[in-house]
Amino acid sequence: MHHFQYKAEELYCEDVPVRVIARQVGTPCYIYSMATLKHHFLTFDSAFANAEHLTCYSVKANSNIAILKLFGSMGGGVDIVSGGELYRALKARIPSDRIVYSGVGKTVEEIDFALREKILMFNIESIQELEQINRRAEAMNLKASVSLRVNPDIDPNTHPYISTGMKKNKFGISAESALRAFEDSKSLKNIDLVGLDCHIGSQLTDVTPFVDALQRLRALIDRFRLRGAQIRYLDLGGGLGIVYDQEAPPQPHEYARALLQELGDIDCKLILEPGRVIVGNAGIFVTKVLYTKRTQAKNFVICDGAMNDLIRPSLYGSYHTVQPVARSLQETEMVDVVGPICESGDFLARERELPLTAQGDYLAVMSAGAYGFSMSSNYNSRPRAAEVLVDGEHYHVIRRRETWEDLVGPETVPDFPEEDQGGRNDE
Ligand code: LLP
Repeated sequence: MHHFQYKAEELYCEDVPVRVIARQVGTPCYIYSMATLKHHFLTFDSAFANAEHLTCYSVKANSNIAILKLFGSMGGGVDIVSGGELYRALKARIPSDRIVYSGVGKTVEEIDFALREKILMFNIESIQELEQINRRAEAMNLKASVSLRVNPDIDPNTHPYISTGMKKNKFGISAESALRAFEDSKSLKNIDLVGLDCHIGSQLTDVTPFVDALQRLRALIDRFRLRGAQIRYLDLGGGLGIVYDQEAPPQPHEYARALLQELGDIDCKLILEPGRVIVGNAGIFVTKVLYTKRTQAKNFVICDGAMNDLIRPSLYGSYHTVQPVARSLQETEMVDVVGPICESGDFLARERELPLTAQGDYLAVMSAGAYGFSMSSNYNSRPRAAEVLVDGEHYHVIRRRETWEDLVGPETVPDFPEEDQGGRNDE
């Protein structure tokens, strides 16, 4: 369910015509629907209502502080993976006891920042990291709460770049190493081992790998408890997929039912880290047609939005539906929708049957709320797009479009010696 619908052949976000935003704010831009964001958060969170739980929205999916603030106001926490994400979460006033911190490469500065802010827990991804956090906590005279991220060696059947719980992936530690880490942690005075964690991948469209992973974690929790560990938290990560095209992922209530059934009476507070399922279909990317170009081989629709704005099609070969902002019952043609970037990998859609487009038309790239803006860059010195949040008949610009000045703002030119006028001096 989302609030991007046609009314009289014109695409609306809630009660605002997308064309109006595109004209007033300019293109390319991201547009998010507040009602959809709220609905998705509530649907997910309430699916777990029967269990003690905390929904920690995964900041990386869409990191805008207005969106973080919205979920925080609905009782949500966050899953972060960097000091920058922690900074954003705090700016959005997410209470620090609702913040969990994952990631294989936490730096000393990031660890210190998170310790200072007293986050709920670190999800540990290696023994060296555990020791590092212990050292930093000792230096700060604190106790760090940690969960061990377990790599359950399960194939999530998704794109290889976003599968994270297989033996060959860099994430987590094996069950046996986790048990050894627990034994080691007894001598680490500044570590409080409070939970186990796993995250096996993203855009999963079947519930089976989640249940398999959970079975392994359950068995491991029993082994931990037999050895005297106080496991109070079980973090099941994120990963639930959404519909981009023809996928049929489980609904949040089906996902929750399968997990809760498998969990039984485990006596742990559940942590969930959904990202895409909350924001993915709550956002679109809007771009304007600059030129249309017919070659012998292809018809290109050249837009002002590009791979720097939305890299998913180029990076993963992902499918995003592209549709006209103003619909008319015209003929269609087979096109590639491309951007201005100087690479042939710069496309938003390939080989699509689209209604004939003309210069100045707006196109909506659907399902762009997750890993859209948050993965964007300035490649080709393109200022990043504006982000807009629609609420009923109103909209707010929640990130202004970058300017050319923003591009060079952090750069400095050293004083180069004056250009040598006199040629080489051999003496
Ligand atoms: N928790 C952890 C530890 C994660 O690494 C991730 C995503 C999540 C939660 C949220 O997963 P989600 O519910 O969104 O599937 N850029 C890729 C997706 C990368 C996912 C990385 N980790 C894409 O555009 O498909």
